[in-house]
Amino acid sequence: MHAVQMKGIVKRFADLVASDHVDFTLEKGEIHALLGENGAGKTTLMRILYGLYTADEGQILINETPVVIHSPKDAIKNGIGMVTQHFTLVPTLTVAENMVLGETAGITLNLPALEKKVAEASERFGIPVKPQALIKHLSVGERQRVEILKALYHDANVLILDEPTAVLVPQEVDMLFEALTRLQKTGLSVIFISHHLNEVMQICNQVTVLRDGKLAGTVKVADTNLKELANMMVGRENFGVKRQGQREQGKLELKIENICASDKKGLPALKDISLEVHQGEILGLAGVSGNGQTELSAVLCGMHKITSGKITAGDVDLSDADTSCVCKAGVGRIPEDRHANMVGELSVAENLVLDQLQNFVKNGILDYGKIQKNAEELIKAFNIKASAGDRVRTLSGGNMQKVMLARTLSQNPRIVIASQPTRGLDVGATDYVRTVLLEQRDRGAAVLLLSEDLEEIMALSDRIAVIYGGRIMGILPAHEATAEKLGLMMAGSAA
Ligand SMILES: Nc1ncnc2c1ncn2[C@@H]1O[C@H](COP(=O)(O)OP(=O)(O)OP(=O)(O)O)[C@@H](O)[C@H]1O
Ligand SMILES: [Mg+2]
Repeated sequence: MHAVQMKGIVKRFADLVASDHVDFTLEKGEIHALLGENGAGKTTLMRILYGLYTADEGQILINETPVVIHSPKDAIKNGIGMVTQHFTLVPTLTVAENMVLGETAGITLNLPALEKKVAEASERFGIPVKPQALIKHLSVGERQRVEILKALYHDANVLILDEPTAVLVPQEVDMLFEALTRLQKTGLSVIFISHHLNEVMQICNQVTVLRDGKLAGTVKVADTNLKELANMMVGRENFGVKRQGQREQGKLELKIENICASDKKGLPALKDISLEVHQGEILGLAGVSGNGQTELSAVLCGMHKITSGKITAGDVDLSDADTSCVCKAGVGRIPEDRHANMVGELSVAENLVLDQLQNFVKNGILDYGKIQKNAEELIKAFNIKASAGDRVRTLSGGNMQKVMLARTLSQNPRIVIASQPTRGLDVGATDYVRTVLLEQRDRGAAVLLLSEDLEEIMALSDRIAVIYGGRIMGILPAHEATAEKLGLMMAGSAA
């Protein structure tokens, strides 16, 4: 039985064909992966199914009956739910209130009754949520559970998950997979978007690969392997970038001395942290998310104040600096949030020069010729799938990330603070970004790499520090660091 059939789907955005006669079939009760490079058209195809975009051509059948889907309301009526790449919950409302958002018009809300219903649903589907909690107090993983439960609460038989694991820590990924395999047995069909081929191999039954908006093929997981999938996606099969050889430690460039800072709620988040990063090295900071990395990166980028301690870049004191001082001191920032410091309504070209406009002025006015030329070079160098004039808000998630990286790294900063630089990137782009970080190191930059991906930390770092509960548990040279040792430190035992 086919839960969903999409036939000959075409979607154009001006000259771009984001979906080019795509056929996609979802069987009832299967978990079906949607794979493809950044900008291949995965989100677009799913937005069409969920009624957020209307296809220019093609047909959709649900349970083998043709349907017309013009809005998410239509999709929900047809039993389709979607958890998007960016959450849509209202932070100031509770979990229960968010469940029924948009359907309570005219009815007075009986909150206790609603909370009871939500608690029952939570129990029935095995998705733990606290009905009375305010969304703004929840972690990303908890918010995602609310989104999933919301879809199930509205009787979804088909659940679309757009890169659900990109925001989760490994333990949460396990929980999600457990829930999905359990719900699958009750007849739920799932469309699962991910850039992680190993996740796809682990929980999916079938895989559909998109390439440049076109269908590259659909295969059964049991009949395929990592190499074949990589090949279908990008036309090559070997991935993996690794640091080569030891390097002499260069001059001390970034010095962090005994810094303390609070989190957003005013609780201590960084407790007496000291780190040194030298020219020509990558210092990796490993840790399970939520152990102070976000605050540390914000502090070093001038976006968050320390309560005590000292930060020095070269001979510049950055202890109390704001973002512009930090940039002037030669610190290149790759923030965790790819939307930070990007202006969606401005073009790719404009966003690429936003923090260095002074270099693009001629006779007192902006030199648009130079801005355009700069953009064309970076788009080529970073393989960004967009044109210089495109508004940034129309870019795919991964391409937006590439614009941010290009902007920072093209200025050849002396110090690079990179937070989760490859989150959400496809395998090819991930390799590319890792190569660029190694190039920065090799030309003498001091790189601090904050990543929850242990494999990434181990592949790139010259030395590895581990953060746990806001403290540095220890620092190891790369050749002494094993996954087991680091794992123990990440769980709180000292080196
Ligand atoms: N609203 C829009 N206006 C113009 N172009 C768009 C719009 N939405 C998507 N696109 C373009 O369509 C193409 C496919 O984008 P889509 O978001 O579907 O990619 P994706 O496969 O989900 O990529 P990622 O893995 O990076 O999330 C991209 O080139 C993107 O720039
Ligand atoms: Mg996408």
